[in-house]
Amino acid sequence: MIVILDFGSQFTRLIARRFRELNAFSMILPSNAPLEEILKLEPKAIVLSGGPNSVYDTDAPKPSAGVLELAMPILGICYGMNFLAQHLGGKVEAATVREYGKSVLSSYAGTLFKGIEGEFVAWMSHGDGVKSIPSHCSITCSTTDTAIAGFENLELQRFGIQFHPEVVHTPKGALVLENFLEIAGVTRDWTAEHIVDELIADIRNKVGSDKVMLAVSGGVDSSTLALLLQKAIGTQLTAVFVDHGLLRLNERSEVETALANADLRVVDASKPFLSALEGVSDPESKRKIVGREFIRVFEREARALESQGYRWLAQGTLYPDVIESAGGIGAANIKSHHNVGGLPDDLKFELLEPFRLLFKDEVREIAKVLGLPDAIRLRHPFPGPGLSIRILGDITPEKIDILQRVDAIFISGLKEWNLYDAVWQALAVLTPVRSVGVMGDGRTYSYLVALRAVTSIDGMTADWARLPHDFLEFVSNKIVNAVPEVNRVVYDITSKPPATIEWE
Ligand code: XMP
Repeated sequence: MIVILDFGSQFTRLIARRFRELNAFSMILPSNAPLEEILKLEPKAIVLSGGPNSVYDTDAPKPSAGVLELAMPILGICYGMNFLAQHLGGKVEAATVREYGKSVLSSYAGTLFKGIEGEFVAWMSHGDGVKSIPSHCSITCSTTDTAIAGFENLELQRFGIQFHPEVVHTPKGALVLENFLEIAGVTRDWTAEHIVDELIADIRNKVGSDKVMLAVSGGVDSSTLALLLQKAIGTQLTAVFVDHGLLRLNERSEVETALANADLRVVDASKPFLSALEGVSDPESKRKIVGREFIRVFEREARALESQGYRWLAQGTLYPDVIESAGGIGAANIKSHHNVGGLPDDLKFELLEPFRLLFKDEVREIAKVLGLPDAIRLRHPFPGPGLSIRILGDITPEKIDILQRVDAIFISGLKEWNLYDAVWQALAVLTPVRSVGVMGDGRTYSYLVALRAVTSIDGMTADWARLPHDFLEFVSNKIVNAVPEVNRVVYDITSKPPATIEWE
């Protein structure tokens, strides 16, 4: 594996991603991780990330003593290169202006560029620069503004590059990283099958014969985790699925089918949820009520299982959450001991977080290996409060039933027309508005529903999806014909911002 020491660059986690895409396992540690901690991981190579500091800052982050002397390849990127150059006896100068953005290498050669040909576009983001290279090192690349944009010392296995090979704006950057893997002799076996085997061994080792409880939501992370744990520890696992009565049509049975071999405890809590929500139309109040009721139900289940000797609570925490909760550089020994959904402290579960070193797309790959049905694996995001925030105004069982049927027609229509995977999320909203229509020879006065489909990368911003008019006509007809309580369908053409994806 490769250890990446994080000097605070906003791109550090991309370095880890790129290596993993090359099937090489890599882990991010704080810049000052102790030498013993690094050696325990038995890395084949070290990468020093970029960072916002100048090597001349009084509080410039440094690797621990001995790290730069390790007899293994070390690659410094940006700040990492400057630090390495200075450490090896080169000279680093603070620039008056930062070089930021796209550059083209005017020349490149050397081991990291092996097999690369043609124009090399490199993304730069640096203030300091190396003004003279350490002795016994050679310059490997330059730009018109930066004479020393890279250096190497093959004998010492030390490499520096000023540009960021990890960002997409450096299109051939992955080739540079691939060359580094080759130099380091890293085995490229970080595949989904391999990850599954490792995780299973690790879970068995940790849990022994203890019992484990897991909350499943029907989303990809918790469902994949359920399958993994089931495979690892079989009957020692109990998965708890809370049906709050605000799920989509058939959602509960889909989860039940996918986890048919696991000990799945489905808690039908629709009554307490719906009675707590009765007459409530304020969006924030609805969200708070659903959150509160969820914790109430889950706490009851957790207490029951704890009293039956369950020791572990499994969670689908992912690597980005772990990196985030570390709060940037220097925050060593990351512990994400926040409890599930606000469970009280007197519940004494130990946390089991097998995915805490994985990215979302790695979990999706694992899900495929474990045989999670695509209906769940590739499912759009669905909010915790469920349909309660898609029924504007007060919530009644009748309205839930209407919205479930509308939503199912919309979603299955998207699948039929091969549009489901082209949008990031799609949903239907039941408004309290009624309008006049005509059906057959009769007047109708029925509900207005809105359809929304968005494209997005992460849900933070979104654009409305340009669904084909023919498709919109098809679903609109189908909804109005199949759901008699609805006589008008509109399509939401607002982006986020200014709107949000959900309507409440
Ligand atoms: P908004 O409406 O804020 O939604 O643009 C962004 C994304 O987050 C989902 N969402 C939630 N997910 N609990 C969740 O687990 C929630 O309370 C919640 N509210 C919104 C939403 O579906 C979209 O994917």
